Amino acid sequence: MCGIVAYVGNKNVAPLLFEGLKRLEYRGYDSAGLAIVSEEKIKIARATGRVSVLESKVAAAGGFESHIGIAHTRWATHGPPTEANAHPHTGKTKSGHTIAVVHNGIIENYVTLTKYLTERGHVFTSQTDTEVLAKLVAELYEGDLEKAVQSALREVTGAYAIAVMCDKEPHTLVCARKGSPLIIGIGEDSYVVASDPSAVVAHTTQVITLDDYQVARLCAGPKDRKSPGGGPWAVEFRTTTIDNVRVTREVEELELDLQQIELGKYPHFMLKEIMEQPESLRNCLRGRIDQRECRVVLGGLTPLVRDLMRAKRFILTGQGTAFHAGRIGEYLLEDLAKIPARCEYASEFRYRNPIIEEGSIIIGVSQSGETADTLAAMREAKERGAMALGVVNAVGSTISRETDAGVYLHVGPEIGVASTKAFVGQVAVLTLLALYIGKRRFLSDETVRTYLNDLEKLPEHVAKVLEQSDHIRACVERHVHRDNWLFLGRGYNYPVALEGALKLKEISYIHAEGMPAAEMKHGPIALIDEGMPVVFIATQGSQYDKVISNIEEVRARGGKIIAVATEGDTRIEKYADSIFRVPNVPEAMQPLVSVIPLQLVAYHAAVLRGHDVDKPRNLAKSVTVE
Ligand code: AGP
Ligand code: GLU
Repeated sequence: MCGIVAYVGNKNVAPLLFEGLKRLEYRGYDSAGLAIVSEEKIKIARATGRVSVLESKVAAAGGFESHIGIAHTRWATHGPPTEANAHPHTGKTKSGHTIAVVHNGIIENYVTLTKYLTERGHVFTSQTDTEVLAKLVAELYEGDLEKAVQSALREVTGAYAIAVMCDKEPHTLVCARKGSPLIIGIGEDSYVVASDPSAVVAHTTQVITLDDYQVARLCAGPKDRKSPGGGPWAVEFRTTTIDNVRVTREVEELELDLQQIELGKYPHFMLKEIMEQPESLRNCLRGRIDQRECRVVLGGLTPLVRDLMRAKRFILTGQGTAFHAGRIGEYLLEDLAKIPARCEYASEFRYRNPIIEEGSIIIGVSQSGETADTLAAMREAKERGAMALGVVNAVGSTISRETDAGVYLHVGPEIGVASTKAFVGQVAVLTLLALYIGKRRFLSDETVRTYLNDLEKLPEHVAKVLEQSDHIRACVERHVHRDNWLFLGRGYNYPVALEGALKLKEISYIHAEGMPAAEMKHGPIALIDEGMPVVFIATQGSQYDKVISNIEEVRARGGKIIAVATEGDTRIEKYADSIFRVPNVPEAMQPLVSVIPLQLVAYHAAVLRGHDVDKPRNLAKSVTVE
């Protein structure tokens, strides 16, 4: 998803904007641009491709000196990724001034607005929806940028996170949001606006967020107008609704430090996040396992524990990897809490007129907490009477702020587009949730204690699996030229097969499909030949013998078998060409270890195929548009 960075304050803005854009590159984009106000004129530079291309362009133009600027990495929704479609977009006011806008989201009524503005003489130069916003603010500008933005946003439908500036007001930034993420850093002599904390934390850890339909006016200028570079700067901000009603926003402390978003010794963020999973799991579980009382501690749920106990049904929802975690949550909640549960794609749930009975609880699963479909599905369920829980990683994200309660993953910021540590964190939290409820319902202390003991050992278990990375890479090397893979699993490991296929697809661009192992016989077996690597999650459990039968069916047709198997299982050696070993844990916890080799399969395949592991083509880290 695109990124916005904007700054007004006492430092030279261009280097700060580029640093911010680079912090946001992981979100995925196709072009970039920036604008500054210099000598009461707006200067703009835009380029397709990487931020570094834009940086070279600005340097070649002699650099941009200013104390105010806005910048953007675009993930095109309307209009191809061209220089003309890159942001910022501009509009001309009646008084001959220039408005510049950067935008994340979609202006849904842009066609109507384009017609209205064209009739008033505005000339459009791009194929984007965003340009209509710049020209609408310009059309409504009468000397007060904040008011013009408020007026324009009252006419707009869609999703937006925007930063706006005007050459007539060189000390004022106006930003606003509805549906797309935005965070505002409160510095000593400056303000920085960005799509997520990773572009703010280098400047300040004091931040405010906006709710939907809220606007912030940020002013920063020299106290002594005659010494813009020298003396102290005055800064002031105010927050309102788009109807110009004052609102108060609390200044919060960012829970993030630079080390967490730095690559360190790793070649890619994805490998860093895979290899740091023992640590991120410790952080996720910290303070949530009480062995003495034999219980799970989830403080965020205390106010709602009675509702949870009376729940008649859980609906889990999410997209992509989060959806796969939700699928495992389905098994966990029915298995351990004995409450009916089902997981749905958020994008399907929100439009199918779902029936929500009394006692239904929706659980939104999301790493970013900004996925548009997941947010909309939760709003839909809440409007129909469901209570909403969040299983989210990004603290203060939109989804986390709109739930009745929730449990943060606490696995740290996930920069790699392919989700790894967040998936394991989501499944770990869903396991804790199922035990939290199950303990108060039917689970014996003995059962709970067994699970708590195994959960506490989980980081060590994961560390052991990670030691096989070279072995996994050697296996992948033998098959990486194959263009179609199959991932098969049963029970708790069926969603793991889905996740393994997604991981491989999204960063190596190899086509892969995950499905229940038994389903293979109902058609897909026709695909099997020696050219198709088949990955079986064949850990020992209630359906192990059935999985072995499925493996034999594949072998009989020449398929190459790659098996994720339990340590000490010698029977599998007769059937598998390659074996990745995982520790012996209860069936309900197997996804937490069986997914690890599959993350490494995908990572090594992508590296061997020479792809950009952290920024795979066409992908965004957080899909904040529908
Ligand atoms: C996962 O590897 C993908 N990057 C993608 O499927 C992701 O899981 C999905 O977009 C949901 O994102 P979220 O967890 O931030 O809501
Ligand atoms: N819809 C706008 C465009 O296509 C913004 C997309 C984005 O969020 O980057 O330019």
